[in-house]
Amino acid sequence: MRRKLVIGNWKMNGNRAANAALLAGIVSGLKDVNDRADCAVCVPAPYLAQCEQELNATAVAWGGQDLSIHASGAYTGEVAASMLTDFGSKYVLVGHSERRAYHGETNELVAQKAVVALAAGLVPVICVGETLEDREAGNTETVICAQLQAALEVIPAEQLSNVVLAYEPVWAIGTGKTATPQMAQEAHYFLRGCVARKSEQVAARIQILYGGSMKPDNAVELLAQADIDGGLIGGAALKAADFLAIIHA
Ligand code: G3P
Repeated sequence: MRRKLVIGNWKMNGNRAANAALLAGIVSGLKDVNDRADCAVCVPAPYLAQCEQELNATAVAWGGQDLSIHASGAYTGEVAASMLTDFGSKYVLVGHSERRAYHGETNELVAQKAVVALAAGLVPVICVGETLEDREAGNTETVICAQLQAALEVIPAEQLSNVVLAYEPVWAIGTGKTATPQMAQEAHYFLRGCVARKSEQVAARIQILYGGSMKPDNAVELLAQADIDGGLIGGAALKAADFLAIIHA
C-alpha cells in the first residue's frame, strides 16, 4: 500500500509574515488530521531557512522548486542541490511545467536535475504533463511518456525508489479546470506502466501525485483513484485550511 503524499508548491509566492502564519496553521492543523498522508511544502529558496526553523521536528517536510545541475560555480541565480540540503530540504521539484515553459527546460535537462537531486540525497518530484494542444491532438501519452522516459533512462534502477512523480496536465494548472478523476487515473495508470517497464517492483511502490487545480471539493474523488497517491497543490497550498482539507481527504 502506497502512503499518500500531499506537497504544496508555493511557486513564487509568500513573505516572511504570511509564511509564518501559513506554516503555523498547517502544523497546528495537522495535529487534528488523521495520520493519513505525508506532507511537505516546496518553497522559494529564500524561505528554506524559515521552513527549517518552523517545521523542524514536525510532520511537515520541505524542499525547493528547482535545482542546478552544477555543484557550484559561475551560475548566477542558480541553486545547488547542496544548498537545498544545507537547509534540511527533503524534496525538490524538477521539470515543473512552468519551468519547462518559461525556462526552456528539456526532458533531458530535467532528467539530469533528477539525477543530481538523487545524488545529493534529495527526493526529486519529477513533473510531467501535457498541454491542451497535446491532449486535443491525442498526444497525451506520447508526451508524458517521453518526459518520464528521459529520466528513467538515466536514473539508476536502485535509485528509482527514491523518486516521486507528479502528473500535472498543463491545462489544469491554475485554471480551475481539473482533470476528471477518470482522466487523471488513466494518465497515472499509464505512467505507472512506463515505470514498470524498468522495474515492476518500483512501479508498484512509486508515489504518483496529481497536480492541477486540486481543491478540497475535488480531492476526495481524485485521491480515491487507484493510481493517484497524492497531490501537488498550487493555489490551495497557500491557505492552511484548504491545504489541510486536502491532506485530510
Ligand atoms: O505544482 C502544482 C501546481 O502546478 C498546481 O497548481 O494552482 O492548479 O493547484 P494549482
